[in-house]
Amino acid sequence: MMLKIPDILDKGGVAKIRAILDNASWVDGNVTSGVQSGMVKNNLQLPELGDAAQAAGKLVLEALGRSPLFMAAALPDKLYPPLFNRYEGGGQFGDHIDNAIRIRKGSDYRVRSDLSATLFLAEPDSYEGGGLVVEGMAEEPGVKLPAGHLLLYPATTVHRVLPVAGGARVASFFWIQSMVRDLGQRSLLFDLDKSVQNLVAKNGNDDVDVVRLTGLYHNLLRRWADV
Ligand code: NI
Repeated sequence: MMLKIPDILDKGGVAKIRAILDNASWVDGNVTSGVQSGMVKNNLQLPELGDAAQAAGKLVLEALGRSPLFMAAALPDKLYPPLFNRYEGGGQFGDHIDNAIRIRKGSDYRVRSDLSATLFLAEPDSYEGGGLVVEGMAEEPGVKLPAGHLLLYPATTVHRVLPVAGGARVASFFWIQSMVRDLGQRSLLFDLDKSVQNLVAKNGNDDVDVVRLTGLYHNLLRRWADV
């Protein structure tokens, strides 16, 4: 399941984060790579534990917490604190699969990456190329969303970021450990949740089928969730 979630940040929220990022110093992106992905990666990142990444990351986390759609789709248990990258001057990231377990530097905080997320922080027409291609889900020229929009996709997929020929592609990226590890189960819950919400809008909260289906949702979640 690949999901586009619009308006995680509004224009003001994007500007606030960009003000932090555009004044920060960036380093070679290979600081977070595994051995295979390090060979195919050519971009810049904000130092993970630096003030800029921490301040901007806090704003991203707050925005995610305000998105019912993100919560329903990801059913997050833990998040890896948001990181930030920048591709320019031909920068790209070739085919790779994200590491299964991410361990936060200098801590024992670890996250199993069930889902990968990219929050776009530059308008698509401000850079050339730079689409995100996800095997079996998004072919070339790849996905480029408006600034403030989020792309959520299974961390199990091979993906790449195409070369950025002009301008700069700036984004936040992070991983989510879901309460429901299995993609199929998580997708079923999300479908059920969407239909229940539609039914509530039509019939109200006390409709007998709304009550039954809400109960069914929670009983499936109880069966499948690890918390
Ligand atoms: Ni990746």
